[in-house]
Amino acid sequence: MGKEGCVGVFDSGVGGISVLRSMVAALPHEDFVFFGDSANAPYGEKSTDEVLRLSRANVERLLAGGAKAIVIACNTATSVAAARLRSDYPDLPIVGLEPALKPATLAPKHDRILVMATPITLKLDKFHKLAQEWGSDSTVIPAPCPGLAARIEQGNLDAPDLTELLQRLVGQYRGKVDSVVLGCTHYPFVRRQIRSVVGDVPFFDGAEGTARRLQSLLAKADLLKPEDEPGSVTFETSLRKPGELDLYQWFFNQEC
Ligand code: SIN
Repeated sequence: MGKEGCVGVFDSGVGGISVLRSMVAALPHEDFVFFGDSANAPYGEKSTDEVLRLSRANVERLLAGGAKAIVIACNTATSVAAARLRSDYPDLPIVGLEPALKPATLAPKHDRILVMATPITLKLDKFHKLAQEWGSDSTVIPAPCPGLAARIEQGNLDAPDLTELLQRLVGQYRGKVDSVVLGCTHYPFVRRQIRSVVGDVPFFDGAEGTARRLQSLLAKADLLKPEDEPGSVTFETSLRKPGELDLYQWFFNQEC
């Protein structure tokens, strides 16, 4: 389990694999261990105490496996736990994710920005502060999406029930928004399906920004692996279900 000197990445399940893809592209020589807590997914509809407890356990597990840095590849866990984890582990580089409101507000058309995320992410102070900081020039429309991350966990992303769920969650915004922020790492895997419901507007997510942040934190801490060594990606999951890790690999191979 784990790999000495790896970058430990965790999410409530498969969603963080969308972020992992960007990090592997930016830092191909690093070793990444991705832990998906699919047995406890989704986090976005749990209590904050429970998300904090699970996030701490995930960090402990990745540290025991030799992680030199942690990426919280989950918007919900970042909103709930990032500040606490940084104070619990002051010497550990910890990268979190937040809804990509900044690039959305800097885009040419930004009057009405739809932010899709879990109920917890949209309820917590972190999101309200972000909306205040970056959204003063725009109307920021929060769209809580209960059930969506859990449905994406199941795969079969072109099935009609998924489009019906998206219609119920965000169908009313078709033609009424200038851009969409995907504020949950599961959602980039259904970007195309969301676009077919909301309309052909620019989409923003936090994956590339997170990869840049990881690169700069590792460089600052002098923790980058030499570029002439090959990198690796290892998947681990809490869900003891046959085929679960094949599903992780399938998500890793998806364009998103
Ligand atoms: C969830 O576990 O509910 C979604 C993860 C996220 O917020 O990125």
